[in-house]
Amino acid sequence: MIIGIGIDILEVGRIQRVVERNVRFLDRVFTEREIQYSQPKKNKYQHLAARFAAKEAFFKAIGKRIAWTDIEVVNETSGQPRLVVHAKEDFGFTRSHLSLSHLAEYALAVVILEK
Ligand SMILES: CC(C)(COP(=O)(O)OP(=O)(O)OC[C@H]1O[C@@H](n2cnc3c(N)ncnc32)[C@H](O)[C@@H]1OP(=O)(O)O)[C@@H](O)C(=O)NCCC(=O)NCCS
Repeated sequence: MIIGIGIDILEVGRIQRVVERNVRFLDRVFTEREIQYSQPKKNKYQHLAARFAAKEAFFKAIGKRIAWTDIEVVNETSGQPRLVVHAKEDFGFTRSHLSLSHLAEYALAVVILEK
């Protein structure tokens, strides 16, 4: 049964501007793995923006905000993204689904939670 859904769209340039102005933002919002994944990519801000959107979409799906790094996006070897929850709290779902898409200007994410 689907118990939560969340979607978020974000301007890639907004993330780029915040990161360029404040490098600490990176470590506050993204996990080491998320940074390691995005940093070497040609369009790193697109990947970071998509991960930011995924966190926001997750917050919508659970109906509340948690610490940014308590929810993480990891990629399977196929490239498929999935969510890893680090928060101790039980949000009541047993399975999560994540889909990301990004272009030069916008990144978006959809999260579905099942029980
Ligand atoms: C997955 C795929 C649809 C991505 O589409 P795209 O238009 O190039 O890119 P989008 O911006 O819409 O999406 C990119 C996101 O798709 C997701 N993605 C990548 N591979 C995926 C897969 N196998 N399944 C689901 N999602 C996938 C990732 O989250 C990626 O963003 P990220 O790298 O920041 O995590 C496309 O790469 C594809 O058709 N893959 C099928 C397998 C394949 O052909 N692999 C490449 C072999 S050379």
